[in-house]
Amino acid sequence: MRKRTRVYAAGVATSLAAVLTATTASAAPAPGTPGVGDPYYPGDGNGGYDVIHYDIRLTYEPGTDHLSGTTTILATPTAELSSFNLDFALDVESVRVNNRPARVDRDPADPTEVVVTPAAELAPGEPMTVVVRYADTPSEVEVNGFTAWKRTDTGALAVDEPHVAEWWYPSNDHPTDKATYDVSVAVPDDVAALSNGVLTGQSKTRAGWTRWNWRSAEPQATYLTFLAVGDYDVRSSTTPSGLPSLNAYDAGLGEIRPAAEASVERTPEVVEFLEELFGPYPFEAQGGVVTHGLGFALETQTRSVYDAGFFSRGSNMSVVVHENAHQWFGDSVSLGAWSDIWLNEGFASYAEFLWSEHAGEGTAAELAQYLYDSIPADDPFWQVLPGDPGAENQFHAAVYDRGALAAHALRTTVGDEVFVEILRTWLDTYRGTHATLDDFVALAEELSGTQLDEVFDTWLFTKGKPEVGPNGASAD
Ligand code: ARG
Ligand code: ZN
Repeated sequence: MRKRTRVYAAGVATSLAAVLTATTASAAPAPGTPGVGDPYYPGDGNGGYDVIHYDIRLTYEPGTDHLSGTTTILATPTAELSSFNLDFALDVESVRVNNRPARVDRDPADPTEVVVTPAAELAPGEPMTVVVRYADTPSEVEVNGFTAWKRTDTGALAVDEPHVAEWWYPSNDHPTDKATYDVSVAVPDDVAALSNGVLTGQSKTRAGWTRWNWRSAEPQATYLTFLAVGDYDVRSSTTPSGLPSLNAYDAGLGEIRPAAEASVERTPEVVEFLEELFGPYPFEAQGGVVTHGLGFALETQTRSVYDAGFFSRGSNMSVVVHENAHQWFGDSVSLGAWSDIWLNEGFASYAEFLWSEHAGEGTAAELAQYLYDSIPADDPFWQVLPGDPGAENQFHAAVYDRGALAAHALRTTVGDEVFVEILRTWLDTYRGTHATLDDFVALAEELSGTQLDEVFDTWLFTKGKPEVGPNGASAD
């Protein structure tokens, strides 16, 4: 069995090509940069082009973990390019650009950077078609000692944040370049192949295999595109508002199954509640997938994936509310940089407080106060900054819990009416695209007519327990 461990120093590879592009951009065709300049992950994404659409067409064999097929990328160059990069960790068989074979190299300093040199230079604004043919065993491909691809009892999961795409399709792997998707995966008849959006149909082309075809019609970030193969019970229906809904339950959930259904089957009710707060649901489908072997939940667009463990003590509406709140905060309005993760997790966590109030289980003010009071000032929790937690703490409890307190403190500062206006205007203004924490602060200040430095600095950017609590009262 082959094991490839790809160790690289993030950032080192970025600099040379970045310098070349910067100094030659206006003169001759230049290589696209191997990163978009994310402060936490310098190699993420690629410069020089915008993806419009991914057409992912694969075959997956659960018994051997063999994944093969073709991803076709429709993109627009944004500069005159002599070459460009794709983020991808699997073995590549061939790449064609605009129907001509292209040269493929891997950056030795970062094997997730596939350098594509087309037969002819690319002109800005001229549509390009990139066809990548590949085959590999994703679970054996490690990047920095890690593989996001997970094999399960009956299949596999490509569900993770922030890095998962490079284990199953080549991409411009950063939330600032969203695209539409067709995902088509053939699997043995006894398992399902689940992904985002609408199931446009299943096709049977050879004995023993079924091809599942999915379409995401709204812009979707690379990490929010998922694949779950396995033995699932699929339930499809139409929501009261007329959207197709498809939920799937791991066939091996056993006694957890009713609690999972008692939570996930209420997705349309949760979405209705969130629509009243945030404005219209931004997507064309709803749903959830409950699985074993994930260890977390993820707000994969239109259809979140939940580890079964969330339902081991009965129903869990908090996680359903959290992941569905992300459909607005994170999925529709995506991060401009991974350091701005509070924009995702702070509001998804605060939505849980609002649901609690709605359900009569304690007001948001009570939950915020309890959380603030229950964490002692000397707890290391208060040392992680939700506004810039560092890549290693991107999903630290402080990003979620202190992040929710920050949202509540903002509400206390500006009042309920302006708070809701800020959220709705934010979601409406940046719907389908991306924005930064600075953009959020600017919008909040504009709509409130107030300098908000103090509340943001205190709750997002200052180490230590704030003196004044989230409801405006001092700690005792
Ligand atoms: N955004 C996800 C959530 O809040 C968290 C994913 C955590 N990722 C991970 N690899 N543990 O629901
Ligand atoms: Zn979250």
